[in-house]
Amino acid sequence: MTIVQIENLTFSFSRKQDPVINDFSFSMKKGEIVGILGQSGSGKSTLLRLISGLEMPIKGMIKIAEMTVVDEGLFIQPENRGVGMVFQDYALFPHMTVKDNILFGLSRMPRKDRKQRVDEMLELVQMEQFVRRYPHELSGGQQQRIALARALAPKPNILLMDEPFSNLDADLKESIREELGVILRKANMSCIVVTHDRNDVEAICDYSIVMGPSNQTNDSNRKRMQHG
Ligand SMILES: Nc1ncnc2c1ncn2[C@@H]1O[C@H](COP(=O)(O)OP(=O)(O)O)[C@@H](O)[C@H]1O
Ligand SMILES: [Mg+2]
Repeated sequence: MTIVQIENLTFSFSRKQDPVINDFSFSMKKGEIVGILGQSGSGKSTLLRLISGLEMPIKGMIKIAEMTVVDEGLFIQPENRGVGMVFQDYALFPHMTVKDNILFGLSRMPRKDRKQRVDEMLELVQMEQFVRRYPHELSGGQQQRIALARALAPKPNILLMDEPFSNLDADLKESIREELGVILRKANMSCIVVTHDRNDVEAICDYSIVMGPSNQTNDSNRKRMQHG
């Protein structure tokens, strides 16, 4: 099953500027982990924001789990796209415990099922004993696992991760990366990981695509998208 399909996506922050995303097409299958590589400013975060619905394209189409989420004349709100996100800074709520951070995304799940889902997620990321802690009482790697648990709890169709390892110490990074790969495979989660580090891609991704510099024209940009 195709989990994400993007056709001819074009986006610009203003009319005067060249498009940041220029006629971009891409598709991936359920359960795949895809890396997006590219220099700073090449539009990686913007692409994730377009997929999740935080930005609206000038033109193009995006389908998630065979549902069109944006097209000419159609725009599905972010909360209705079935997309989970993990950001560079994890963005956990500092005043909420681990449990409440994970519960936060479960408002649509029947109340009686929520506790079990929190427990499942804590088991998945092996953080059961930290359920009552606050984010500041956790290490960077532990915070990242909770951010992952929170994003996965509502059972998203696709998980988007924006530079998820960049705040981790180098020695920690390798083990966390391995761990993330194992967790994602175990959950059969489809995932797009944005990174500037080719080693991340080699460690956990099925393949990667490369975003070209934003000032390229249509055709040269397209050639730089490499499925490898
Ligand atoms: N809110 C914004 N307004 C105007 N330009 C922006 C905005 N956010 C990003 N840009 C520009 O869009 C381009 C792509 O940014 P971004 O997607 O964040 O790149 P990356 O994540 O690959 O580093 C950059 O040139 C950046 O300066
Ligand atoms: Mg970015």
